[in-house]
Amino acid sequence: MPVPVRKAIFPVGGLGTRFLPATKSMPKEMLPVVDKPLIQYAVDEAREAGIEEFIFVTGRGKAAIEDHFDHAYELQDMLSSRGKIDALNLVKATIPEPGALAYVRQQEPLGLGHAVWCGRNFVGSEPVAVLLADDLILNGVGCLKQMIDAYETVGGNMVAIMEVEPEQTANYGVITPGDIDGRLVEVRGLVEKPKPEDAPSNFAVIGRYILQPNVFADLGRMEQGAGGEIQLTDALARQLGLQPFNGFRFEGRRFDCGSKVGFLEANIAFALDRDDLKDDVAAFLKTYT
Ligand code: UTP
Repeated sequence: MPVPVRKAIFPVGGLGTRFLPATKSMPKEMLPVVDKPLIQYAVDEAREAGIEEFIFVTGRGKAAIEDHFDHAYELQDMLSSRGKIDALNLVKATIPEPGALAYVRQQEPLGLGHAVWCGRNFVGSEPVAVLLADDLILNGVGCLKQMIDAYETVGGNMVAIMEVEPEQTANYGVITPGDIDGRLVEVRGLVEKPKPEDAPSNFAVIGRYILQPNVFADLGRMEQGAGGEIQLTDALARQLGLQPFNGFRFEGRRFDCGSKVGFLEANIAFALDRDDLKDDVAAFLKTYT
């Protein structure tokens, strides 16, 4: 039985340049899809999967994330005195148990691998999940819960994967697939951002990972990869053969909320998924066709 996954890292140290000027003084991860910030979707998904400790790797200008997961006493008082109990409950539900959250600064955005490495002292010698808030997945059962259920059988390292159009491989880490067993695909190789002609498949890695703690020692070597960044996928590729390594073909639709079109699509899809909004939004969309 593999060691259970109780901790998760949320790397939120990136600059979010694709959303300027919106992200000039507001973290990208606080952009709302319908009425909830991206980072809260990721935290809720982790909670659903049984995660107990939440490690945020932040950077400068990210204080709004810390405030979001804390009490807002004035607001709570005001809502309470005006009898707005539903709104009050919504605000209170964002606050995790005291001590469950930890924040560490990535002083320089040197890449996703570096961001994950910055969380190492909070992880210790346990496996850890990593969730990128800008990958948002719409499904009844969250992507991380699906992965952890599968992990309980196979252990090792695991990455969420999906098939992408062959011409898009240069935007992703791409695996060399081995044996396929249901939703699990054995990872025999992994390259970051290959050109379509060099890509070993069209199975792309998206922002959900389960990592064994050995990967931190590798990340600590600070080897630069694609774009001069310290890449998580490169460190994972160097773990091949040392422990099981699987891709997990999750159920659900994934939106790349780090891109403008993906973010807009997510807003529409999540609104259409809501009983209180779907009719009005569908009627509005019809006026565009
Ligand atoms: P992105 O590649 O989307 O970069 O990072 P970004 O800086 O956030 O956004 P753009 O490209 O400038 O618009 C993917 C994820 O990795 C985190 C980001 O916060 C995001 O969740 N990240 C990336 C870090 O935490 N640190 C880094 O050094 C790089």
